[in-house]
Order: sequence, then structure tokens, then C-alpha cells
Amino acid sequence: MIGWTPDSWRQCPAEQQPTYVDPVQVEEVYRQLSALPPLVTSWEVEALKAQLAEVAEGKAFLLQGGDCAESFADCTSAVIANKLKVLLQMSLVLVHGSQRPVIRVGRFAGQYAKPRSADVEEHGGVSLPAYRGDLINRTPFTAADRAPDPQLLLRGYERAALTLNFIRALVDGGFADLHHPEYWDLDFVQHSPLAEDYRRIAAGIGDSLRFMETLAGRQVGEMNRVDFFTSHEGLHLLFEQAQTRKVPHREGWYNLATHFPWIGMRTAKVGGAHVEYFRGIANPIAVKIGGTMSAESLLELIDVLSPRNEPGRLTLIHRFGVRAIENRLPPLVEAVERAGCRVVWSCDPMHGNTETTPQGVKTRRFEHILEELEQAFAIHQRIGSVLGGVHLELTGENVTECIGGARGLAEAGLARAYRTQVDPRLNCEQALEMVMRIARRIGRKTV
Ligand code: PEP
Ligand code: CO
Repeated sequence: MIGWTPDSWRQCPAEQQPTYVDPVQVEEVYRQLSALPPLVTSWEVEALKAQLAEVAEGKAFLLQGGDCAESFADCTSAVIANKLKVLLQMSLVLVHGSQRPVIRVGRFAGQYAKPRSADVEEHGGVSLPAYRGDLINRTPFTAADRAPDPQLLLRGYERAALTLNFIRALVDGGFADLHHPEYWDLDFVQHSPLAEDYRRIAAGIGDSLRFMETLAGRQVGEMNRVDFFTSHEGLHLLFEQAQTRKVPHREGWYNLATHFPWIGMRTAKVGGAHVEYFRGIANPIAVKIGGTMSAESLLELIDVLSPRNEPGRLTLIHRFGVRAIENRLPPLVEAVERAGCRVVWSCDPMHGNTETTPQGVKTRRFEHILEELEQAFAIHQRIGSVLGGVHLELTGENVTECIGGARGLAEAGLARAYRTQVDPRLNCEQALEMVMRIARRIGRKTV
């Protein structure tokens, strides 16, 4: 990779980075982080890249989801297990509807740094640095809490390791076994309007498995430890650099803090530090596409990030919002397809649909999210490209952050369990309903 080193990004303008007051402490934290063992391995990273290549061809489907911002306080067994449960349930519905393997990627085990539109937040005439995620600073509105603290980089790395360790142990212990979808039941299933549909799908999959096993004379559908992949926004570049490693017997450099890092919309600029860092790592990577991105700048970005046009290398996650997708997406898809770029297309129907209620609560409407997804499928189908995945902000908890869904959560009900630190997430029931509503669309006939 010409002119690239793990720290060549430092020569480029870096947006969304915290300003620390004590560079000596930052250097010491960096030294410690660089010496700690990796969280994931290069063979897992390569396995995901190969699976994403299948997604690009419409042979598998990508389900990526999790919190907008993970919090250190939520690094608990219940919260982690519930997140796995909802992702497993969703994938079951998608496997059933699409008749294709589903690749599960969590926004977890490292989703701790957030880009912000404004550097500062003001309350009652006091202006303090914005909260930028638990990796950087703390939520309470005091000068001490909002000052970026380099020690949090170490705490974040440890939380990511604890989270991943628990996920791997659960999966190894049979938690994700398709023979026992009842292990993943969340409380809501008993009294949800969707319960019956979901039970029917789960029972149908159980029957098919038993049928296959009778034919094959052995167990099928065992899941091994690479069946959950991790992802986070690669925002804090010094943190990412510290995890960028060479491994024996492989070419290139791997970011071994996560399988699948992505570049956020605000930092996806050619010439900027994030694109510079990402172009040199061997992981599969994603980039968020939105706003006013032109076809020309998208092609330039693809050229920098995926110069070898390697299948599975690059995922484009579009996030325009229900009002803009019809105008904005088609020219980009047409240009990318015409140029012969091999990318995975995924739709994030969350970030273009954020609104604020008259009471000042940030929310999203279930119907807008669903409508953007529906439009995305229709646009890709019309053009002849493959919409290979969805990217959702969700939680396994019963929160009240997005309006709508089968239970008809209203604006007035948002306050009941509004817990997100940044963006509103689908609760477990809304998340499951979302995939039930889209499962039909991704049946074979739509590819
Ligand atoms: C996010 O995924 O939480 C996010 C900030 O997205 P985007 O970069 O698309 O705005
Ligand atoms: Co978000």
C-alpha cells in the first residue's frame, strides 16, 4: 500500500477527534493499548470478508445492528445476552424469509465513540464539550465529566474484551443453537401481537432442521464461534491505530479491535484522516453514504478504499432518509454499477429519519424506517443491483425511543423508558417486527 503506515493519517486533517490536555498521558495510554492482545483474529476477519463477498452476489444477507452508542454501564450479562437474543431472532426470521444464510454483525464490543454535529453543548449559559461517547468523556453536564479523559480508552478496550468474551462463551456453549430458539425468547414474545407469527417461523425452522438431520444422519446447523461478528465506527484514530497489527503468514495490516470497522458519514472524505487510515487496513470495511454525496465523489472514494476491487472488501451503507432516498440513491447506484465496482449495498434506515418532538425528544418513526427500507429494496431491484443488508440501531431491552410499531407506541409514551445516550433505537419488539415486514421482500424473487 503506497505511502501508507498505521500512522500516516496523522498527516491529514482529522475531524471529530477529542483534544486532550495532557499529551504525555495520551502517549502512555497508546503504549499500553498497543501492547495488549488483540480482540479478534485475522482469520475471523478474512472469513467475514469472504462471507460479505457472498452478500454482494445476493447469496447471503447481512444483518448489522446494535446500539447507537454502547455504554460502559450496560456491559452486563443481561444487556449483552438480550442483544444477542434479538439479533438471533431477527436472523431467524430473515433466514426463513430470504432462504439465504444471514451474516450477523453486532454494533457491539467497541461502539463507544460518537461523532457530533456540534463540538459544544450549551445549557443555561454554560458551554461545555459535547458528549462524544464513553471512550472519550462522560455524560453528566459538568466540566470535569466532559473533559476528554485518555484513561477511558483503556476502559473501553477492556469493556470490549469483556463483552466479546461473554458473547464467544455463550455461542460456544450452545446459546445460538438453532435447535433451541426458545433459549432466545425475550419476555415480550409471550404478550406481543407478533408472538404467534414468530413462534410459527421458529417452529418451521425446527421442523426443517429435524428433517435435514434425518436425511443426513447427523446434526446440522451447529454454529461456531465466528457466527457473530463485531463492528464499530472507527472514529478515534489513535485508538484504532493502537490495534493495527501485522500477523504472521499474512500480508498487510489488520485492525484487530473489531472485524468490520466503518467510516461515519461525517468523516468519509477523500484526503481526510479517516479515509487515509482505512485505505491501508486489510479488514472488510464499510462507509456511510448520505447527505449530498455526488456520484463523482463516491467513485473517487471507492477507488481510494477498494483499489483492487476485491469482493467483500467494501460495503456502502446508504442513509438518506425517507424523503431523500428516491432522489439521491439511484444516481449513486447507477454510477457504481456502471463502473463495475464490487461493493455490498446495505441500507441504514435510521440516521436519515431522526426528528425532534415538540417536547425536544429525539425520536424516529417506525413507519419512516420501514418506508425507507421498502424504497431501498425497490430502487435496487429497479436498477438491477443487490441490496445485501440492513443496518439498524436496536436494543434487546424494552425501551421507548422510536414511535410506532405493532403496539402503536405514541409520542406521549416515549418518556416511559427512554434510555439511549445518543440516537433512538428500535426496541426488541419493533426490531423483530421490522425484519418480519421486510423478510418477504428479500425472498429469492427480488434478487
Ligand atoms: C451512527 O451510525 O451512529 C452514525 C453516527 O451514523 P452516520 O455516520 O451515518 O451519521
Ligand atoms: Co446513531
